[in-house]
Parts: sequence; structure tokens; C-alpha cells
Amino acid sequence: MDRLSSSARVMIVSDLDHTMVDHHDSENLSLLRFNALWEAYYRHDSLLVFSTGRSPTLYKELRKEKPMLTPDITIMSVGTEITYDTSMVPDEGWVEVLNQKWDRNIVMEETSKFSELKLQAETEQRPHKVSFYVQKDKAQEVMKTLSDKLVKRGLDVKIIYSGGMDLDILPQGAGKGQALAYLHKKFKTEGKLPPNTLVCGDSGNDAELFTIPEVHGVMVSNAQEELLHWHAENAKNNPKVIHATERCASGIIQAIGHFNLGPSISPRDVMDSSDSVPENFEPGHDIVRFFLFLERWRRAEMAYSELYLAGLKALSFPSSAFVHPSGIEQSILDCTNALRRSYGDEQGKQYRVWVDQVTTTEIGSNIWLLKFNKWEISGDERRGCIATVLLSSKDLSPSEGFTWVHMHQTWVDGAGAKDHTDWVC
Ligand code: GLC
Ligand code: MG
Repeated sequence: MDRLSSSARVMIVSDLDHTMVDHHDSENLSLLRFNALWEAYYRHDSLLVFSTGRSPTLYKELRKEKPMLTPDITIMSVGTEITYDTSMVPDEGWVEVLNQKWDRNIVMEETSKFSELKLQAETEQRPHKVSFYVQKDKAQEVMKTLSDKLVKRGLDVKIIYSGGMDLDILPQGAGKGQALAYLHKKFKTEGKLPPNTLVCGDSGNDAELFTIPEVHGVMVSNAQEELLHWHAENAKNNPKVIHATERCASGIIQAIGHFNLGPSISPRDVMDSSDSVPENFEPGHDIVRFFLFLERWRRAEMAYSELYLAGLKALSFPSSAFVHPSGIEQSILDCTNALRRSYGDEQGKQYRVWVDQVTTTEIGSNIWLLKFNKWEISGDERRGCIATVLLSSKDLSPSEGFTWVHMHQTWVDGAGAKDHTDWVC
């Protein structure tokens, strides 16, 4: 799919902290499960939207800390900033909407009269968002009084309490829900409203997401009291909203299955790769499957067997060439030798592999061009390469997967390996 130019099959709109990202999961396993599912079965025809309370500065920090995918649309600062694509192009139309009945200076002036309000970091103060910390037991009263005062000053604002500590003041037309409604309207006008949207959240600022007509919703198992309370009061009888029994990204996967939105078994949950052959021929799935094999092989999570290497050899042409990011061209024989040497070399280490932004184009009959970023973490070091792969499905049945004709990798700027030799492929 040419990103954003045609109608998506599914649109997932997810909060980040404690929803997509589990800060209590040091190995990030639920996030990596989601990543593999998304890149294998959804990336090519669906839309991933992150909707976070974080400012662009803190959002970028989180991306460096956690193995996160790149979304198609990023909504930041509690629905006050919408950007598109990797280059994060801002939506100027949304800024216009937010300027109505909004005056930051008046908000600053009135809030300064409350000693209970403690201003958050400078990075979190944005053109259409003013944020404070306030104690749980003071929150309700402060919100009421402040709201009356701001109305008297002629403003129409929205005050949101999240995570039992954060208080955000935004224009009335802002918020995560309004930002999603704005996107839906825009897609509808362009005739490409996705047939299914799943919203995912854990805290107060996510509540609005669940009010958008037609959406499916999941509150992850670890959702905050304030969201559960909101749900009990406002959405208890809506069968389209569930409270998952699983935490964070695993709760999102659970909801995909519950609402039948598409495949819901992550390739990471399938140990024997031969069981996981999809019914439809999905080149993205082959890429995910191969790099999962690499991770398990190097972590020695699978038994050593020459059969695997022979199998890989059978899935490429004798003339296939693989260009390592160091620039050296390798034959399939060189690659299988490198793989043989690397068995178990990451055993007992925090070594993980994931792919991001797999794009697929059928460039000829049975020939596929794939582009993606491949990332590895080993301990504290993170490395990444941009990869281009040619796959062929000529004379093969779906159960046999694809033949790898060619692969070319180059380091992502600033994320190359110090030592080229421990990047196997
Ligand atoms: C994020 C933001 C913070 C905001 C909170 C709740 O943590 O950094 O400014 O108050 O989300 O929306
Ligand atoms: Mg959250």
C-alpha cells in the first residue's frame, strides 16, 4: 500500500506508556510480539497510529529506549499535535482548529494562583497544552475550581487527569479522541475510512478514544483506576470495548483476536516455523520469520541442526548474492558458514532482532521487492540497517515460502556496528 494513499484494512490507534510500551517488562517481550505480528500481517495494508501524551521531545526519547515500530501517524501532546509519516510532517489544519477560544497566557495566569499545581518540565509545555502535576486527593477539586475560573475568562478548555498525577489543560476541541475524530473525518472525505479501528489505552487521557463512534476498544489489563472508573460510568454496556486480561501490547493482540480484526498469533509465539505458514502468500511474514530464526539461533533457543542451514540454502538460488552492510558481497555459502559460526554466540545475553516498516512491491510476475529496517539489540548496543530484498515465488506453493534472490544492507546513519564481524546478516 502506498502509505496513506489508499484505504487501510485496519487502523490501530494506541497509547504508548503502559499500553504499547510496558515499562515493567525489561525484555520488552510483549512489544516485540506485537511488532512481529504487525510487520508480518498488517504493515502492508493497515495503519499504525501512536497517540501519546508525550511531547515530540519525550516521544523521540522513548523511541531510543524501546524497540518501537515507526507509526504511519503520530499524535503527540495529548492529541494536540498530529504528524504524518517517518518525516513527521505536521497537520496544519489541526493547528487551526485548536486555536479557537484558546489563550495560553490566560491559562498560565489563572493556574499560577493554585499552589497545588506543580508545572511539568519545559519540554512538556506545548502551544496547545499546559501540563502540571497534582496530588490525587486534590485533583478533583482543583479541576472544578480552575475550570470555572477559565470559563469566566472566556476560554473553552478541557482539563484531563491521567496516571493519578498528571493534569493537562488543552483547548476544548483537542484531546486524543478529538484528534482521532478529525482523522476519521478527513479519511471519510477522501473516501478511505478504514472499515475497522481499534483504540488502545490505559489511563485518563485515553478515555475519549473509546467515545469515537464505531471504534473497537481495549483497555489493557493494567489500566489505571481513573480509566476503569470512567468506563464503568460511561461505556459499561458497549460490547465494542473490552478490558483485556493481558498487559500492554499483549492486551492489544488479545483484542485483535477478540474482535476478529485479522491474524492474532504473533510469529514470536510460534516455535516451529513450519507451523506458521499463513494461508495467503505474505512476503512480509517471510522476512519476520527469517530474522526470528536468526535471533533464536544466536540465542541457542533452538537445537543446533545442519538441517536448518540446508533448508535456508534450498530457499535461495546458487547465484544469490547478499551484500553485508560492511559492503562485502557474500554468496549463500558464505552466509550459511557465518550462520554456522554464530550459533549460540548471543546465548544468555539480551539479544533481540526486529524489523520495522516492511514495504512490499510486486515488481514483476512472482518477483517481490521488499524494503525494511532491521534492528538488533545486544546488551546496551543498538544497531540497525536498511535492507532491500528480492524474493521470488516462482513455481513455489505458499507452504514453501519464497526464494531469496538478493539482499542488500547498509547501516542506518549513526547506528552502524563498531565491529562489522558480529553482524551476521
Ligand atoms: C505524558 C506527558 C505529560 C502529560 C501526560 C498525561 O506523560 O509527558 O505532559 O501530562 O502524558 O497526558
Ligand atoms: Mg498510557
